[in-house]
Amino acid sequence: MAKTAELRFDGQTIELPIIEGSEGERAIDIGALRSKTGLITLDPGYVNTGSCTSAITFIDGEEGILRYRGYPIEELAEKSTFLECAYLLMYGELPKREVLHAFVDSIRRHTMLHEDFRGFFKALPKDAHPMAACAAAVGALATFYPDSLDPVDERQLEISTHRLIAKLPTLATYAYKHSIGQPFMYPDNRLSYVGNFLHMMFGTPCEDFEIDPVVRKAIDLLLILHADHEQNCSASTVRLVGSSNVNLFASVSSGITALWGPRHGGANQDVIEMLTAIRDEGLSGKEFVERAKSREADAARLTGFGHRVYKNHDPRATVIKKACFEVLEKMGIHSKLLEIAVELEEIALKDEYFVERKLYPNVDFYSGVIYSAIGTPPNMFTAMFAIGRLPGWIAQWMEMHDDKHKIGRPRQVYVGENQRDYVELEDR
Ligand code: CMC
Repeated sequence: MAKTAELRFDGQTIELPIIEGSEGERAIDIGALRSKTGLITLDPGYVNTGSCTSAITFIDGEEGILRYRGYPIEELAEKSTFLECAYLLMYGELPKREVLHAFVDSIRRHTMLHEDFRGFFKALPKDAHPMAACAAAVGALATFYPDSLDPVDERQLEISTHRLIAKLPTLATYAYKHSIGQPFMYPDNRLSYVGNFLHMMFGTPCEDFEIDPVVRKAIDLLLILHADHEQNCSASTVRLVGSSNVNLFASVSSGITALWGPRHGGANQDVIEMLTAIRDEGLSGKEFVERAKSREADAARLTGFGHRVYKNHDPRATVIKKACFEVLEKMGIHSKLLEIAVELEEIALKDEYFVERKLYPNVDFYSGVIYSAIGTPPNMFTAMFAIGRLPGWIAQWMEMHDDKHKIGRPRQVYVGENQRDYVELEDR
């Protein structure tokens, strides 16, 4: 028998259905609440509110579990590739060999940008943040491809999906090249997805660029780990914006903007700046942790720690920490920043403040150490997160459309002035 929850209000009892997920998560379906009682629910920050049902990504924050389409992140990190995970997230199953080959090939063939994009980037200031540049450039794709803007046309959606996945690395590296005054690099479609990114990012037209397989593998791993994280701030933004039936490019552009914030993906840039400041100011880990605990307004949080859903280890952080040591060792790099990060983690995990609040290192805590070790400037870290998260955004957007969604439109509890008469200017 279907379960229900009872709500008693104003002498009336109503029954609300309980929806149960495939992993036992339960939710009260409040769809009929307002029509039956006149009440709405209030949950700032959506701390207890499910915005949709979803079959893409499962997280158990208490147990530290993350799975894409049922596959544990640890297994995907070890055995899969980023583009295979992208396919899995968007289409629901691991592709057969020929299907994967066709998918990778299609992505490979869409990497080039319209030549006029050079003018677009050149119009931006040199110090433009790559996330601002990427959000604007992805939005601008809609102006270059008016032929693939219909969100419900399957063929148009497939083309815009492939274009986005293929072109975001090119756009991100154009943003970077512009900021350092180097020529934009054309993609080289003989290379792998990550190889091509590294070529466009670090290569120049003057000499051959050799791709280090250790670096390529590490970046592919980071992209896998970032590929989706269910209804986070940017994915929810992509869904909400997309729910107006606007095109995919516009929806993803808004996701990039949401990701940029320091409480979300922008934390990876902040972490490395925090570690660098600790190193340069000669602070001890203990001093910094004490500062992060302080309730003073200007005290920085321990960036890279804490998560809305994980109240136990973030499994992505565990994989990245291990990869960090491996990559640095293989590259023969001794990183003071990694040492500081490990020290901070050790101190925080024993500190009552962090233990009580269940604050653990998140995905952003160690990723920047790898990005820095390969020579990536901090302001590009979040753009790399965006390249990784893109298939997740697209998968969430596609699922929303498949669900015959309503437009996203939260309600509010109005707490402003009651009706009053207009006061003429001279009487105020
Ligand atoms: N350092 C110090 N205190 C913290 C931290 C931190 N990093 N994170 C949370 N707290 C405290 C916070 O002050 C609050 O304390 P109290 O209950 O005494 O007021 C308590 O822990 C709960 O924090 P919250 O802000 O209510 O929790 P939330 O679920 O709303 O926020 C978060 C989650 C990720 C925004 C937050 O933990 C944070 O700001 N962390 C630092 C930024 C960061 O690393 N962001 C990346 C998140 S993972 C990747 C991604 O999403 O892109």
